[in-house]
Amino acid sequence: MPKLTFLGHSAFLIEGHSNTLIIDPFLNDNPLAEIKASEVKADYVLVTHGHGDHLGDSIEIAKNNDATVISTYELASYCERQGVKSHPMHIGGAHIFPFGRLKLTIAHHGSSTPDGAYMGEPSGMLITMDGKTFYHAGDTGLFLDMKLIGEMNHIDIAALPIGDNFTMGIDDAVKAAEFLNAKHYLPMHYGTFGLIDVDPHHFVEKLAGNGLKGTVLPVGYSIDF
Ligand code: NI
Ligand code: MN
Repeated sequence: MPKLTFLGHSAFLIEGHSNTLIIDPFLNDNPLAEIKASEVKADYVLVTHGHGDHLGDSIEIAKNNDATVISTYELASYCERQGVKSHPMHIGGAHIFPFGRLKLTIAHHGSSTPDGAYMGEPSGMLITMDGKTFYHAGDTGLFLDMKLIGEMNHIDIAALPIGDNFTMGIDDAVKAAEFLNAKHYLPMHYGTFGLIDVDPHHFVEKLAGNGLKGTVLPVGYSIDF
């Protein structure tokens, strides 16, 4: 059973049977994060898009661990230019890695690096490891194709942005959860800064009202899925 640890904002550590992955590691500049990039041990760094609160400390972590960055072609190439190993992918494409299968999904959002370079399309990620599937939606608005993602995959756990303003808010994230048909939902992308300050417990209550299971995972807490 893979272990999922919430590192704050949209960052998660995923520890499987043979490999450890980190996704969207925004740590050093996140006042709510409890660990620094220098403490992370990971074999792969997955990045949904180039914004600073997602690309975060990816380069430092990849360098420290001789880890491979996996992202969209544009962002993977950018990371490679910063001196790290990368594996480029793109939306709709899946690949079998030593840790399991990763498929990139659409996300309705933008993608540029903190220095302002445009990075093409952002993504979401479907990670299947040790027979279990985790869907990380990235930063996105609600989209009807989530229904298709739910139909074609048995999602064990899904992390959805709920903070509004830049992504789905709570009501849209509850609708997304209805579409995805996952067994369990975790809120992300809330509370880190004023513009996305929503109460994640309202999300979990609204899910429960629709017969769906959600958990507010505090920063630093883990769940087996
Ligand atoms: Ni973003
Ligand atoms: Mn973001």
